[in-house]
Amino acid sequence: MKYSELSLEEKREQFKRAQIEFDCLCKLKLSLDLSRGKPIGEQLDLSNDMFNVLTGDRDYIGENGVDYRNYGMLDGIPEAKKLFSDLLEIPAKNIFVGGNSSLNMIYDALTRLMLHGAPGVNMPWCKYDKVKFICPAPGYDRHFSMLENLGIEMITVEYLENGQPDMDKIEELAKDPEVHGLICVPKYSNPTGYTYTRETVRRLAKMECAAPDFRIIWDNAYFIHDLYTEEKLADIFEFCKRYGTEDRVLYFASTSKITFPGAGIAVMAMSDNNMAQAKKLVNVQTIGSDKINQLRQVRFLGDADNVRQHMARHADIIRPKFDLVFETLEAELGGLGIASWTRPNGGYFISLTVMDGCAKRVWNLMKEAGGVLTGAGATYPYGKDPRDANLRLAPTFSALHELEVCIQALSTCVRLASLEKLLEGEN
Ligand SMILES: Cc1ncc(COP(=O)(O)O)c(C=O)c1O
Repeated sequence: MKYSELSLEEKREQFKRAQIEFDCLCKLKLSLDLSRGKPIGEQLDLSNDMFNVLTGDRDYIGENGVDYRNYGMLDGIPEAKKLFSDLLEIPAKNIFVGGNSSLNMIYDALTRLMLHGAPGVNMPWCKYDKVKFICPAPGYDRHFSMLENLGIEMITVEYLENGQPDMDKIEELAKDPEVHGLICVPKYSNPTGYTYTRETVRRLAKMECAAPDFRIIWDNAYFIHDLYTEEKLADIFEFCKRYGTEDRVLYFASTSKITFPGAGIAVMAMSDNNMAQAKKLVNVQTIGSDKINQLRQVRFLGDADNVRQHMARHADIIRPKFDLVFETLEAELGGLGIASWTRPNGGYFISLTVMDGCAKRVWNLMKEAGGVLTGAGATYPYGKDPRDANLRLAPTFSALHELEVCIQALSTCVRLASLEKLLEGEN
């Protein structure tokens, strides 16, 4: 029965029960962590054979006869371009293979815009009075801290109930010449797990933007990270071509959650104009990325089909954890009308929505009970969740038995915080 439909007496009774449960939890001195959005050791083991490639004679010579031990090839080796081209279905000539981190590539791309502006416009963003970005939220905390760090003003746009960003609002905001961009995770988004529909992708490619240098940071970090039914993300470049907006999109991905996080390879995909500018400017920064690592990753991963099989093995490890979270949340909180959660088909996160004004309280109660959650508010620009209702759950790094205890503890905290809220002013 929904808590809101309980009589005052019943609410008080439920509150007492939740309080007792919570006190028992605290006595257990648990040490739980649901904040780590990273693969567990068993997943990393799937890529251990990478240590056994490049061991042969002259295993550092590329398909083009180039010695990869030496400087050069600023935008990456052709083998890595081809692999990403096959995986992302983007022409190899539009792919820049970089170093170990897509986040780093995003930061560098934004910094180039700040210092030099976009090709064709050439107005450094730092010279504008104000640069604003549209931030669909809940979103990835590191995107938001990056924009804040660069002095870019963030405008929060909420996701609608259908899991899509509020496109009407985005189209309206894009008419403001001070709005120079949008940052998003379009597939199995961090933290909601939603994927942008074909219509959302089309509208983003088509919308009128007052700023001539408007950029969409398309962080497709979970492009191949399916767990259940595969969701297909529409090709944004195809739409951009149709509407003549190809320069609008800067597309990022990496092998961080395919092979080894922080020791993989990252890519940026973009139009010919953006590519030409990136090559010119990155050339000032570096003579080239680590080609040996690029070759190692490609030799280990093989072709696109092989990567898909490899990702299916990751999914086999992760899926039972997502199943367990869904089952436990349903058993503990289902039907109470105090929480809802997303059911992603892939990615690394589940987004939990509690009653307005309760997320911080739940976070604090969890902390008292020995549990760590990603900070309440972290999924919003400036750490400010306007409803104080969103919490990000990251199930991958916990063992199954820990995860069950963790979600049960979390549910107790959600019940207690909700009953406190419902009884506010009643005592
Ligand atoms: C949406 C998103 N983008 C980027 C990253 C980091 O990627 P990389 O390791 O390639 O920098 C993460 C890691 O959690 C992420 O969730």
